[in-house]
Amino acid sequence: MQEKFQKIKEKFIEAKVVVVLTGAGISAESGVPTFRDAMSGLWEKFNPQELATPQAFRRNPELVWKWYKYRRDLIQKVKPNPGHYAIATLEKLSKDFLLVTQNVDGLHKEAGNKKLVEIHGNITRYRCFNNCIFMDNPKSELPIRCEKCGDWIRPDVVWFGENLPEDALDKSFKYINNCNIFFSIGTSGVVQPAASFPLMAKEKGAFLVEINLEPTLISAYTDISIYGKSGVILSELIKQL
Ligand code: OAD
Repeated sequence: MQEKFQKIKEKFIEAKVVVVLTGAGISAESGVPTFRDAMSGLWEKFNPQELATPQAFRRNPELVWKWYKYRRDLIQKVKPNPGHYAIATLEKLSKDFLLVTQNVDGLHKEAGNKKLVEIHGNITRYRCFNNCIFMDNPKSELPIRCEKCGDWIRPDVVWFGENLPEDALDKSFKYINNCNIFFSIGTSGVVQPAASFPLMAKEKGAFLVEINLEPTLISAYTDISIYGKSGVILSELIKQL
């Protein structure tokens, strides 16, 4: 383990541009459920086709609205964990840095990261389907309609079958193509396009580090993989940098 930290330190000190990609695993130690972990993953219990597509919302707005309200209420009770704080420190220690997060929970911002893109949106933000209106945390227990166009107000997150926000994606590509070290943290690496980001960085010459509870689809391509809880590993890494 010590040798791995030492190697990461060398590469980090040399690096001009650092990119971190995070997935649900980074928030697991805060008490936010992941999607695909056996037993505790949301998609182990719920069907994403009934809850996380635009068609699902139009079919049953009340169900989807309630499910998002439930997740929003849960997220508002939790706090960033040592892994989030370590990534905020990593930003401060880096010459140039971008955090690309798939998470919608806002915990990275709360921990202090400023240079970040939320490529799957944010669960506390809502908008009309036609983008007439944006709002934070609507209080209503039931779905509401846009005052301007009459269409539904929906969570400002990316659902299955939808495009990612263009500006967030452009910025991600710019950094991924130029980074010297890339950290993939707490993501299973199955949802595109984020799943390709580590490989894109590696192809452009970046040193690829993975931190995850267990091996993933990304592991075959990494220069270093460290398996364990991201909060614990990242705290130790920061101490050594
Ligand atoms: P997944 O649930 O697919 O994967 C979570 C990963 O985190 C797994 O590889 C776990 O092994 C790992 N993990 C769990 N606890 C951990 C811990 N304490 N420390 C380190 N690693 C840990 O979540 P994502 O990869 O984020 O999309 O999923 C990607 C996207 O699929 C999500 O953004 C979401 C979902 O559908 C949308 O909602 C659009």
